[in-house]
Amino acid sequence: MLTDRIQDAINRQINNELYSAHLYLSMSAYFEALDLNGFAHWMRLQFEEETAHAMKLFDYVNDRDGRVVLHAIDQPPIEFESPHSVMRSALEHERLITSMINDLYALAVAERDYPSHVLLEWFVSEQVEEEKALNEIVAHMDLIGNDGTGLLIMDQRLGDRTADADAEAGEGEA
Ligand code: FEO
Repeated sequence: MLTDRIQDAINRQINNELYSAHLYLSMSAYFEALDLNGFAHWMRLQFEEETAHAMKLFDYVNDRDGRVVLHAIDQPPIEFESPHSVMRSALEHERLITSMINDLYALAVAERDYPSHVLLEWFVSEQVEEEKALNEIVAHMDLIGNDGTGLLIMDQRLGDRTADADAEAGEGEA
């Protein structure tokens, strides 16, 4: 059984993950409009990953005999300054999500909720990977600057991204 505080906090995090999915799908649409199909593909997989994160929490609340409460999802930004600014915003967003996961982890420790603690360890590790991937992309885009050829090479590279096996394996398992 989940305490009310943990249940409310996880329900809020389900909403945060669904907003992340929404945000990345909007970014994917922006890239599609620019015909940067590799970037669009990368963001679409990111959307799928965030949906899997939300569902992992959704299943966990149900497994603990809790009650999932869904909240409204805010509208994400539609327009962006440049491909570079999109990836920088995505990195900033992941840093924000990391701080939310850390707060949730701290709450599970404070409430001595060990099953939640174990679940959240997965999310703590996942955030390290999320930030690492985006840090690298932003660093490469900093090097490219305004070079169009570099951007197209980057587009090709991001188009090679495959679904994260770990996120897929974790889907619905929590
Ligand atoms: Fe679910 Fe990208 O954090």
